[in-house]
Amino acid sequence: MNCIVIYFSRRGHTKAVATEISRQLNCDTKDIVPAKWYSGFYMRCLIRSYKEKRDGILPPIRGKLNLSLYDTIILGFPVWWGSAPRVIFSFMKSHKIQGRRIIPFCTYRGSAANADKDLTEAFPDNEWRGLFAVKSAKAKRCSKEVEEFIKKHNLKQDG
Ligand SMILES: Cc1cc2nc3c(=O)[nH]c(=O)nc-3n(C[C@H](O)[C@H](O)[C@H](O)COP(=O)(O)O)c2cc1C
Repeated sequence: MNCIVIYFSRRGHTKAVATEISRQLNCDTKDIVPAKWYSGFYMRCLIRSYKEKRDGILPPIRGKLNLSLYDTIILGFPVWWGSAPRVIFSFMKSHKIQGRRIIPFCTYRGSAANADKDLTEAFPDNEWRGLFAVKSAKAKRCSKEVEEFIKKHNLKQDG
């Protein structure tokens, strides 16, 4: 198994979980960087992200990753409006990763229920696993949860 952790994080919670997963698995990690960063002002970010979701926008992201070496993508995002931020959809669309196994994870403040539904429906050609959800308040001390997550999916890094 060759894994990579790919994530988007605006405020660092999802990054903390991504870092812990890649540390425990000893695998690569990369972040998704929107071409136009999301405002630090919560209301502005809420409004922009709401419009993006409502209109099905694919916000441009920076760069392109060579993912040909990886059979498993561990894909992280903060829950936005009960779903994944639209930059995650941009990432999925702009990389040729059909058929690849994707294990989604998220951080959230209130509820993560079905936050992966829009994604799995939009990209049915991937092999999706169940969503691993970590509450924001736990994101910076999630080593136990990550340990269980790795065990549950029997994740192992080659080499
Ligand atoms: C635009 C926006 C929408 C959000 N929507 C939700 C939501 O629907 N449900 C929820 O539980 N948390 C929601 N949150 C809270 C984030 O999911 C939570 O703070 C997350 O851990 C932030 O991750 P980050 O630090 O990696 O950016 C929202 C936050 C923002 C900025």
